Amino acid sequence: MPGTTKKNINNWFIDDTAFHYLYPPEIQKMAENHWTPIEVSKCAADFLVTEKGSKVLDIGCGVGKFVLAAAHYKPNAIFYGIEQREELLEYATDAQARLDLKNVSFIHGNFTQLDFKKFDNFYFFNSFYENLEGIAKIDHKIQYSLSLYNNYNKYLYNQLKKMPVGTRIATYHTREDQIPPSYYIVKTQFDKLLNFLIKV
Ligand SMILES: C[S@@+](CC[C@H](N)C(=O)[O-])C[C@H]1O[C@@H](n2cnc3c(N)ncnc32)[C@H](O)[C@@H]1O
Repeated sequence: MPGTTKKNINNWFIDDTAFHYLYPPEIQKMAENHWTPIEVSKCAADFLVTEKGSKVLDIGCGVGKFVLAAAHYKPNAIFYGIEQREELLEYATDAQARLDLKNVSFIHGNFTQLDFKKFDNFYFFNSFYENLEGIAKIDHKIQYSLSLYNNYNKYLYNQLKKMPVGTRIATYHTREDQIPPSYYIVKTQFDKLLNFLIKV
């Protein structure tokens, strides 16, 4: 597998299959349901980085696939990922080291502990969906419930409402009513699965 020269690092980004070799087989298997495809990350990063030094937070970053791809394509921006499962962040930081990415910060914790005002723009791949019955789970180590799903969505909605005009969010596999109406959809891609919204 590729090493850390610039040319070799680009090889990890040839396609999703190549990228997934950064992770062990059990993590690769979850990609289809849980991790953002490289092409989606690239488009979302283009939208979310508006200036040099833009700070972008992935709410529920998993093994860091969106964060790492976005940071690779946008080296002048800073990408943050918060994740509740510590073991997923170990895979994320291992992959970060192999990709030699300096513009990435992973945070272990619940997104409700974060001050959203420290970030400019956001990425959200319907992270609380796992709480619903009949939906593929990453593992069975945490509690799932409909009330967690509702409470997390409500918390996110209220945090986004408090953000300044001009705040951007890219949502993937997320319903429109999960985001406050003050955010307008300016563009959609990937059969309307990826939405770009700006607060007015
Ligand atoms: C669908 S995965 C997306 C991973 C990543 N954003 C990507 O696109 O590749 C959602 C992740 O959100 C995490 N998550 C769910 N609820 C969370 C919470 N309340 N705080 C922090 N992380 C959370 C899950 O553990 C899971 O790893």
